[in-house]
Amino acid sequence: MEGSKWKAAALLTWILAAESAYGLPQVGTAVESILQKTSTEQTSAYVTQYPPANKGNRLLIPESHPVYRFGLQRDGRSSQLPFPELDVSDFVHGLEGLIAPDQQTNAAPAPPTGDQPTSGKQPESIPAPTNTATVKNSPEGGPEPQTTSPADPHPIDPPPPVKPNTAGNMNGQDVFQPVATGPAPASIQSRGDHPVQNKHADSKDPIETNKFYAGFFLGTQTNASFTQPYSLAWSKGGGSLKSWGMGITHIPSDMLAWGPKNHKIPGEPVQYYINPVGLQQIIFSASELGDSTVLKTEQPKAFSAHAVIKRSSDSAQQITFPVIQGMGYTTAVYKDLQPIIESGVFFRKVVNAGSPRPGIFKYKVELEDDTTWLMYATPDDAKDPEFKLVSKISLRGPRGYSGTVQIAKNPAGVPGEKFYDNSCGVYPVAGHISGSVTDDVGTYSLSWTKAGKDVKKTPLLMFALPHHVQSFDKATQGRVTDIHLRTTTKGNSTAVVGESWTMVEPKLPIGIGFAPWSATQGSVDKLSPAAQHAIVQSAPHELKQNISEQTDLNSMYYSGKALSKFATLIYTVKELGNNVELTTDAFQELKKAFAHFVDNKQQYPLAYDTVWKGVVSTAGYDGDLNQDFGNTAYNDHHFHYGYFIQAAAIIGALDPSWLAANKEWVNMLVRDASNSVENDDFFPFSRGFDWYNGHSWAKGLFESYDGKDQESSSEDTMFAYAIKMWGQTSRDASMEARGNLMLGILGRSLNNYFLMEDDNINQPPNFIANRVTGIVDHTTYFGANLEFVQGIHMLPLMPHTPYARRKEFVHQEWQAMFAEDASTPASKVEGGWKGVLYANLALIDPKASWEFFTQPDFDYSWIDGGATRTWYLAFAAGLGGAP
Ligand SMILES: *[C@@H]1O[C@H](CO)[C@@H](O)[C@H](O)[C@H]1NC(C)=O
Ligand SMILES: *[C@@H]1O[C@H](CO)[C@@H](O)[C@H](O)[C@H]1NC(C)=O
Ligand SMILES: *[C@@H]1O[C@H](CO)[C@@H](O)[C@H](O)[C@H]1NC(C)=O
Repeated sequence: MEGSKWKAAALLTWILAAESAYGLPQVGTAVESILQKTSTEQTSAYVTQYPPANKGNRLLIPESHPVYRFGLQRDGRSSQLPFPELDVSDFVHGLEGLIAPDQQTNAAPAPPTGDQPTSGKQPESIPAPTNTATVKNSPEGGPEPQTTSPADPHPIDPPPPVKPNTAGNMNGQDVFQPVATGPAPASIQSRGDHPVQNKHADSKDPIETNKFYAGFFLGTQTNASFTQPYSLAWSKGGGSLKSWGMGITHIPSDMLAWGPKNHKIPGEPVQYYINPVGLQQIIFSASELGDSTVLKTEQPKAFSAHAVIKRSSDSAQQITFPVIQGMGYTTAVYKDLQPIIESGVFFRKVVNAGSPRPGIFKYKVELEDDTTWLMYATPDDAKDPEFKLVSKISLRGPRGYSGTVQIAKNPAGVPGEKFYDNSCGVYPVAGHISGSVTDDVGTYSLSWTKAGKDVKKTPLLMFALPHHVQSFDKATQGRVTDIHLRTTTKGNSTAVVGESWTMVEPKLPIGIGFAPWSATQGSVDKLSPAAQHAIVQSAPHELKQNISEQTDLNSMYYSGKALSKFATLIYTVKELGNNVELTTDAFQELKKAFAHFVDNKQQYPLAYDTVWKGVVSTAGYDGDLNQDFGNTAYNDHHFHYGYFIQAAAIIGALDPSWLAANKEWVNMLVRDASNSVENDDFFPFSRGFDWYNGHSWAKGLFESYDGKDQESSSEDTMFAYAIKMWGQTSRDASMEARGNLMLGILGRSLNNYFLMEDDNINQPPNFIANRVTGIVDHTTYFGANLEFVQGIHMLPLMPHTPYARRKEFVHQEWQAMFAEDASTPASKVEGGWKGVLYANLALIDPKASWEFFTQPDFDYSWIDGGATRTWYLAFAAGLGGAP
């Protein structure tokens, strides 16, 4: 996925135009010319302030120290609630139905099929945060109406007319066209009694449930929102300072806590690392805040939200924090309050550092942890606010202040300071996305609407993640700076000048279909006679399983997996094994089983939730939100619905006449889990997939210490694959292109952050040998056996798997863990994980995989309830394993 051959001159032209419109320097690269500018023509003298020698302070204030919340199974973490303490036997229970009763060999239960996708919570270690960002431009995604926010006293710049992919581009397919526009089908009942009430998010539009800022409106409202590289959390009268303001944290690598070493893995990596929570390096507060202070989340959008701390619920005195992923400064927009900037690690000194521009007042702040921060105050009245350091913890501004205060950590000395000086006074208020695909090259842009002082002339400074920087187009590369700040789980972020970035993903897997695929052979839909023979031999045994029984379960997750399994099996026999007759009955059964869901007659029917707006399982309405992995509270929708969507793609491809009656229902699942537009009245944009982070978040409406997470990277890619194929089957070219682009982005982000090869630079060196990141920890919600931990990133093995899991990675993982001389040889693994491991082996040694699946006296307990031996045979054969 590297390398780029993007050549759409139209886009470059647009970017240049946008740059001039936004005042970006035109000479040389943007960054050079900023560095050349004499940034500081000071209008006032420097004055250094030290905290008064106030003896009481140190004694009265408890030392602020970060809290390292441990893991998963440790410390009762209520946020773990969504996932029951699963042990494998639990899985086996749920799965009995998935095993054919007459399977002779040991009644071994199917192994975990599972994966639990979910996400849950995880401990702190890896906070994953964030959401997405964005660019705008999709025809439908209009500019965000930030202008209406009373909190933004400043004019807002309209979003740039990003239109990389319009008609001008020959075949640039816009990837963000609407899937559909109406309400959910009539079979889906609406209900307004969602078990998670919305008390703090102000919006009549669909509300994002799985985005980075959910900590502001869920539960106690005190858990962090991870914008990267910073995180923000409401102090709510707590913390060592008992502040009511908004705490800002940036965790340097020397503050990480490390788990124990895992001696089973070569290199003895630590099992996990933890970013502490609760550290309040800087707090934006005001002297008027107190017991009656409240926090509201306004304008909760796909790529942004405004966290508003109000003096009291009906007060107009407030601080608004526009919260956007990658924002270069934390910006507090004060309205008629006396600002107090506090520090839980203590101020060492504060320097009044003049005015980088008229009306903007700069301070350099040194903290006792040896970090340097820059603070810029931009009062509406343009008068020097004269912030005074009144104690080691408190820097006080004037009464009745209206205007912004911005703070950023500067790790880059004088050059870094110039960039911050250059962009101070403006801030992003909303993000937008656009994207298109031309041939096998995908392009997407994130852009931001901004507000503030001199907004037209002042470029934004935004932090990009490593996978963005790798895929920046030329114009965006020219705006990259040397300012790097560590993120919690994704390596260093890099500051970039300007209000949009364009990323290019070449070599999208447009050729992947339903048949096995490899980079070298492409889609292999003609198998050798030996392979066809093996398929036809093994098929009858698996085709005679009771389809309706295995698919009509009390879980959307397991039902979806079973439908997907049978659809894949039928496709394999019919198209790859070339035997139609064998499948005739099973295909009828499959369509009947699917109809059960379209008719909404399953055990827990779906409902349209009018509170958050989305389609959820009713399993969790009875009081136990953990039912079905938290589907009712929006956990894992892309996992659960992805299996249905993939099954539908196959059924519709095999029988196009089936589409008319079923398309609306399947499209509803797509819109719920991953809607393509921002202005749909019924579903939020892209619930699961985070276009900034480059992967999905599985956790829904569950408060958690470490933000959102996602346990199974492979089920994430399965979802992207599913919509690609459903787009193809249902002739929605935009959806197909979107699935291809998502796969391209996922391939890159997983390689950077989740599936770690030896040369990974984004995860800590002592963690990389784990190969996969686990939820947060190198483990899962259902156990820490290596085959579970690694296997959950393999499942389900589908045609796109060789694209998402690079050979080199698979090879390193296999040698370290599953080879005969490793700690957990695949040959000794029990149950369905064994089949998963051997199917995965096909990616690097298809012959060994083929031999495993063709061995005489094959034990069907090695096949998990969501898979078939028949498909695994085809998979190994297609990758070159069959004679
Ligand atoms: C974070 O969420 C957990 C789980 O709901 C809750 O117990 C805790 O009080 C919240 N706040 C903080 C600061 O940990
Ligand atoms: C991350 O940035 C820091 C500070 O600039 C630098 O010291 C470190 O080497 C960087 N790490 C990587 C992996 O690039
Ligand atoms: C399949 O299972 C269903 C539900 O358990 C049952 O009603 C039906 O009779 C079974 N069909 C066969 C052919 O065994």
